[in-house]
Amino acid sequence: MIELRAFEPADAPKVVSWIDSAEALVMWSGNSGFTWPFEPGRLVAFYASDPSRRAHLAIDGDGVPVGHFMLRSEPSGRSVRLGMVVVSPAARGHGYGRAMLEAALETAFADPAIDEVSLGVYVRNTGATRLYERLGFRHGRVEPEATQVAGEWWASITMNAQRDGSRTDKENL
Ligand SMILES: CC(C)(COP(=O)(O)OP(=O)(O)OC[C@H]1O[C@@H](n2cnc3c(N)ncnc32)[C@H](O)[C@@H]1OP(=O)(O)O)[C@@H](O)C(=O)NCCC(=O)NCCS
Repeated sequence: MIELRAFEPADAPKVVSWIDSAEALVMWSGNSGFTWPFEPGRLVAFYASDPSRRAHLAIDGDGVPVGHFMLRSEPSGRSVRLGMVVVSPAARGHGYGRAMLEAALETAFADPAIDEVSLGVYVRNTGATRLYERLGFRHGRVEPEATQVAGEWWASITMNAQRDGSRTDKENL
């Protein structure tokens, strides 16, 4: 249903167009340092500044870009961080997010040295959290004051999928 390919600078305007408000920008990118209004050049610079950030685009069967995420190897060499997960607003609710993240886990675990994929999600982002749970991610450390938005603290949670655990959980769904 979807294919992955490497993100290219020419994809930035498309991905940026999927982020439609200052709040959506924080929800998507956390403490990555982006500011609103969000410019494509900022996304290109973000990836160019750190080659360990491997950005991907998800393409549907008609060749249309429907999603984006990033994988970044942790210094330990055993864990990969998943981030910047977004599905285009027009494509949400049709299983693309799940298909894209299954492919992301497969990509991360294709390296035999990797035994864990982790991510951070805001507690208020219940839809994304549920999707991660269904993919086998387990709840880890909660940070009550992760990010301040319009005077309010947003709590975040770290979630982790183990190489074997994620496979088993998916089979049991
Ligand atoms: C989180 C996000 C990536 C999910 O993408 P998605 O493509 O909508 O996800 P899916 O369609 O795979 O699954 C989401 C929901 O749609 C449902 N769904 C799946 N296939 C469906 C279909 N054919 N028709 C209708 N609904 C469907 C799923 O059951 C799930 O339901 P739920 O609300 O009960 O959890 C997307 O909502 C998004 O981009 N959000 C904004 C950015 C963001 O918050 N990113 C995460 C940062 S940590």
